[in-house]
Amino acid sequence: MGQSKPVRKAVFPVAGLGTRFLPATKSIPKEMLPIVDKPLIQYAVEEALDAGIDTLIFVTSRNKHAISDHFDTAFELQTRLAEDGKTELLKRITQIVPDEVNLVYVTQPEALGLGHAILCAETIVGDEPFAILLADDMIRNRGAGALEQMIELHRESGSSVIGVEEIPDELTTSYGIVGVQVNEQRQNAIHTIVEKPKPEDAPSRLGVVGRYILDSSVFSCLRRVTAGSGGEIQLTDGIAAMLQTQPVLAFPFDGERYDCGSRHGFIKATIDYALEHDELREDMLDHMHRLLKTSGRI
Ligand code: UTP
Repeated sequence: MGQSKPVRKAVFPVAGLGTRFLPATKSIPKEMLPIVDKPLIQYAVEEALDAGIDTLIFVTSRNKHAISDHFDTAFELQTRLAEDGKTELLKRITQIVPDEVNLVYVTQPEALGLGHAILCAETIVGDEPFAILLADDMIRNRGAGALEQMIELHRESGSSVIGVEEIPDELTTSYGIVGVQVNEQRQNAIHTIVEKPKPEDAPSRLGVVGRYILDSSVFSCLRRVTAGSGGEIQLTDGIAAMLQTQPVLAFPFDGERYDCGSRHGFIKATIDYALEHDELREDMLDHMHRLLKTSGRI
């Protein structure tokens, strides 16, 4: 137990089509949509950096420049802000990723599913455990971030770890669902994982959310996977194959998750982050109060 190599690399798959946000995502990746003033991808990158990740691997496709540009130096803009003495703004765009962190971009030539996107990162990840963060699952925390909590469990257990959350009955068809058994260490060992089951077929109400720490053997499992639900190569099927040979733990992390891949989740996150923002809170509360009054809710 606990003999596993440390988790240093994180994969950010950002090559999906983002159809639920069309037309906004026609020319920019969903992960570049902002919550208040930061794109989704930046929140996920910050969570990874806080957890000690030193190599960020982005699996991109069309529109890939928006993501790499975001993390690159914006020379003209920086010069202008420096000349104008706008140091606060300058800080916001120059301190996104520390210099010692590696950024790697790999291409997924066609959107063949999340499992396929992860396979595209295989040569960069190599033979070590790695994290996956889906930026459209945004997780807000007051203490340690979700990935940091999961890395702690991985360190203790040496096992792969998947972030899960209790979800309502009607949403089983939108998630990977796990069946678990509590082991001797009082951890939730996964015995089954199914992609988007009907409520009556779901092994539990524990839905997989976009945080994973996986052993590199998932790559050989994924190579054997054929297209599953929705005609895509599903990460869930690769993990199901891994379960045959090694333990995988489900981890109900602390923190509030927003499904920013859906419009209502995205809007909820925007409201909650705006209400936490010193410069926006009062104005937003006044606005909401007015709205509730005119709609007869209060
Ligand atoms: P989603 O299932 O949310 O799909 O992907 P999507 O295409 O992004 O969005 P919709 O459903 O059409 O609105 C989950 C994550 O996997 C990535 C996405 O970028 C997202 O981060 N993904 C998905 C890929 O990188 N490649 C794929 O082929 C599919």
